[in-house]
Amino acid sequence: MSNIIVLMGAPGAGKGTQARLIQERLGLPQISTGDMLRALAVADIHTTQASGRLISDDVVMEMVKGRTSREDCSHGYVLDGFPRTAAQAEMLEKLAAEQGMGLMAVLIDVPVSVLEQRLNGRRTCPVCNETYNVYFKPPQSDNFCDRHRNVQLEQRPDDELDKVQIRLETYERQTRPVLDYYRQSGRLKVVDGSSEPEAIYAGLARIITQA
Ligand code: AP5
Ligand code: MG
Repeated sequence: MSNIIVLMGAPGAGKGTQARLIQERLGLPQISTGDMLRALAVADIHTTQASGRLISDDVVMEMVKGRTSREDCSHGYVLDGFPRTAAQAEMLEKLAAEQGMGLMAVLIDVPVSVLEQRLNGRRTCPVCNETYNVYFKPPQSDNFCDRHRNVQLEQRPDDELDKVQIRLETYERQTRPVLDYYRQSGRLKVVDGSSEPEAIYAGLARIITQA
């Protein structure tokens, strides 16, 4: 099994949903740079995130280095939302070598036409980060978390449609080359991300456990 699983995909492809399932069922910790940045109390970072543009490579790389050096990552981890630029991919190669780990990337492939509804319909619990969708995965009780029944779900500011457009453009321009890089080095697998989450997970788990 490759120790570092890089989950790739456009905004809304289902990286977070699948990374959480992998963490729960295969025991590999989910390292989500988006979630980690949202948890920081830094106004500048939140403003940039809300705009749909990327945070600087230096900030994100420091965060990933620090987080993956913790004990729970010693047998491997799942990266969700990192790397997103060529510089980040280069840094990850060095980090993996230092940690003595192999690396495999998996693209969750979803047509752009589906992404807008997934993003616009997303709601998240501010306490546990559980993700819902008003169209595809509604909570049991209107706008309240199933696990934290008195906590109102929130919508991310970057899930407004104009920000979604910026995020998709940013993905094409800055992250598509990273996919090409993994493909050319023979380390990219692809799963169809347009079916049900459980079916996608089954495909992912097969790839991860066979690698
Ligand atoms: P980040 O938080 O990583 O956002 P993203 O990449 O745009 O991806 P999302 O989290 O929106 O989507 P996802 O693929 O996780 O989908 P999810 O599972 O939630 O980054 C946000 C911002 O942080 C960036 O714009 C940037 O500013 C900054 N940032 C983060 N990392 C950075 C980095 N490395 N460098 C620089 N800046 C960085 O699913 C989406 C919705 O669809 C949910 O409602 C879900 O319930 C639903 N859904 C999921 N799967 C399915 C399915 N199979 N069928 C139906 N519905 C589904
Ligand atoms: Mg996510």
